Amino acid sequence: MPLVTTKKMFKDAYAGGYAIGAFNVNNMEIIQGITEAAAEEKAPLILQVSAGARKYANHTYLVKLVEAALEETDLPIALHLDHGDSFELCKSCIDGGFTSVMIDGSHLSFDENIELTRRVVDYAHERDVVVEGELGRLAGVEDDVNVTAEDASYTRPDEVEEFVTRTGVDSLAIAIGTSHGAFKFKGEPTLRFDILEEIERRLPGFPIVLHGASSVIPEYVEMINQYGGRMAGAQGVPEDMLRRAASMAVCKINIDSDLRLAMTGTIRKSLAEDPENFDPRKYLAPARDAIRDIVRHKIINVLGCDNKL
Ligand code: G3H
Ligand code: 13P
Ligand code: ZN
Repeated sequence: MPLVTTKKMFKDAYAGGYAIGAFNVNNMEIIQGITEAAAEEKAPLILQVSAGARKYANHTYLVKLVEAALEETDLPIALHLDHGDSFELCKSCIDGGFTSVMIDGSHLSFDENIELTRRVVDYAHERDVVVEGELGRLAGVEDDVNVTAEDASYTRPDEVEEFVTRTGVDSLAIAIGTSHGAFKFKGEPTLRFDILEEIERRLPGFPIVLHGASSVIPEYVEMINQYGGRMAGAQGVPEDMLRRAASMAVCKINIDSDLRLAMTGTIRKSLAEDPENFDPRKYLAPARDAIRDIVRHKIINVLGCDNKL
């Protein structure tokens, strides 16, 4: 099956009260682990590539690896640019075969964000590519940009209709208290479901996206700490909150940090337990299995998108 856009996925997810997992990919083992899980669970899938991933692994390598996954699994997969920060980057991904792009103008003024997003939408839609925009700012670290809690701001529901109408975006990422990375909350985790409800009321049927949605699974944080790492105080979004968001207007949930933790914890453990090993396959194979297991868990228990092909 060729790459698909997110149109049908989101329509079905909205109607069915579940969300599609959007997992960040950086190399072959990550792509294999995620797609194996989605194939086992019969789940539609979004594989997303950040600017950093593209710089690390090279556009062509990533596209070819995803094409290999399509051939091996026959899954409906959308290939998405995560946090595109310029028209040029979005254009390059659209021209290079992606079926979905995010233009993240959330750091700009409202009008500048609309102008940039509209430009990307015009270019993308002419080529049957879908676009995700963002309103509101998440805290946390993306690439080298560190947004402090003070600079973060919730999405304003009174702005969403105008933003969606004037830009023509296909989905909208919002800020309701999640944040990027493994240190999301200092105290008790809270998400602003009241904001999500108000946005859902103003944009009935419109797909909403949640970034920064890793739960920072304690098992892997403990594994990292046990084998020489230092991640004390790491804390993510409780899974029951994500499940609730997925049952509402949230149709795409972005997960990267949980995969990083699973991979790194497993590699640390493997190397510690076999200090004489210097064959990368012997620590990358269990890391790939850990990614498969965590993605299966997310699909079944958080996203609810199993058996939805
Ligand atoms: O939100 C950002 C994703 O976790 C990607 O991170 O920019 O370090 O690849 P990255
Ligand atoms: P996490 O850091 O919570 O995994 O968020 C990932 C993300 O939002 C990618 O865009
Ligand atoms: Zn993000």
